[in-house]
Amino acid sequence: MTDSHTPSMTRRRFTTAAAALGGTIALPACTQPSLDVTDAAESLITHSEKPEWQIGFQNAVAQELRTDQMHLLSGKVPLDLNGTFYRNGPALFERNGLRMNHWFDGDGMLQAFAIEAGKVSHTGSMVKTNRYLNDTKAGRFTTNSFATNVPEPAPVMGPDDMNVSNTSVMSVNGELYALWEGGSAFQVEPDTLKPMGNKTWGDGLQGMPFSAHPRFEVDGSLWNFGQDYFSKRLIIYRIGVNGELVNVALIPDVPAGMIHDFCMTDKHLIFVVPSFRITKQAPTFIDNFSWLADQAQDVIVVDKNDLTSRRQFELPPGFQFHFGNAYEENGTIVYNACVGNEKFATQGARDVLKGEIPARSGAQLATVELAQNGTAKIRSLVSDLAEHEFPQFNPLYQGKKAQYLYTVGKSSENTPGESAIVKHDLDEGDLDFYDYGKEQMVEEHLFIPKAGQKSEDDGYLIGTTLNLASKRSHLNILDAQKVNSGPIAVLELPYYLPLGFHGTWMNKA
Ligand SMILES: [Fe+2]
Repeated sequence: MTDSHTPSMTRRRFTTAAAALGGTIALPACTQPSLDVTDAAESLITHSEKPEWQIGFQNAVAQELRTDQMHLLSGKVPLDLNGTFYRNGPALFERNGLRMNHWFDGDGMLQAFAIEAGKVSHTGSMVKTNRYLNDTKAGRFTTNSFATNVPEPAPVMGPDDMNVSNTSVMSVNGELYALWEGGSAFQVEPDTLKPMGNKTWGDGLQGMPFSAHPRFEVDGSLWNFGQDYFSKRLIIYRIGVNGELVNVALIPDVPAGMIHDFCMTDKHLIFVVPSFRITKQAPTFIDNFSWLADQAQDVIVVDKNDLTSRRQFELPPGFQFHFGNAYEENGTIVYNACVGNEKFATQGARDVLKGEIPARSGAQLATVELAQNGTAKIRSLVSDLAEHEFPQFNPLYQGKKAQYLYTVGKSSENTPGESAIVKHDLDEGDLDFYDYGKEQMVEEHLFIPKAGQKSEDDGYLIGTTLNLASKRSHLNILDAQKVNSGPIAVLELPYYLPLGFHGTWMNKA
């Protein structure tokens, strides 16, 4: 049974429920006092030889960056594209000669590309979490991480003591938040990226996990979740267009598998518990998980209008970081996800910090159908590209059947990452793509609908690439109706940025 709470509930009941959740939101196992963490320094890697792509996995060239006007390398910035493209990603891996040993462990840095009247400025700023400030003051890493233990670690009293705030960024009601997934959203000032502190959404919710993949309704309100692995519960957040908490609920009996993202139709929230599950207590949190080759994935479907109402499905063993859109047709729920294995999370993200071509997840786009009779089907949309990740779609089609989905794809073998931006036609089964070439590493591209758009793909794709030849980061803008023509505008920074994860777009007010 799901414990749901509405805005009409009493303050006492809310506080009691949230406190109950807080009391059992277990810290990652690497913070459990019973663990025997020995020889922590061994887990820190000092690198020597660096392939050229390693600049994407080094400390940012400076912790605060500013370019008043980016250099236009080619094309023209469309005059109807006005707003700010924000991105987040790990950007500080080394302090005092010690290097993290997993990509996900670096402190987060926000990038803001402000576009107005055809010109683009850039601001980069480290997210000033308590952890970042403490480490800066100490001149060393003081706290254990998701996959790295440090010598003489400081005690961890709550998830935010470990929060690197490095995974994504969201805007609601004109407010901007850097996101991790194990702790609080961290608010920053949208124009300057100056820190405003950890966000508490309501009484008793201080320090609760708030994932890096909120899902937005077309009206700008949002849903999100946090995962408490050790009590096997999800916390569901419903936040209104005004940025205020509308509802919070606890979903019990959720197996302890790594849920990084979710998707939603207009009626339901869909959570997939993969075959990558906590099976043991290990020195670091990531090592608590094991790949269970015979473990079916559990799909949990929750009714948006009644968070106590839940259905469950099973899928063959698998793992996915990211989901596309979802919709319902004649009672069947259909969604897209990039489905592969756990190897990048466990090994690949370690390999890249060592300068080794990483183990890959082999993720391909898949369509999943969840029928009213309780059966589930998965169909992999295998392509010629070795891998697809970071699925995006027109946000105005959230919860509706959409024809197009956009991913970044891996086509070259000599880099650890993707080189192409791909447009999938889900109706026809076709794909169209632009390959930036072996000298560029491609990051997530967002779809920005044009004002008054006339069709689903009437909009822009915007994303960054790291040019390995020039050692500069680029901002690329494509016409989503002509992806294979390549960017209609390419702008260059006078420096490179570390590779990051996710971004968001905020229209100019
Ligand atoms: Fe993600």
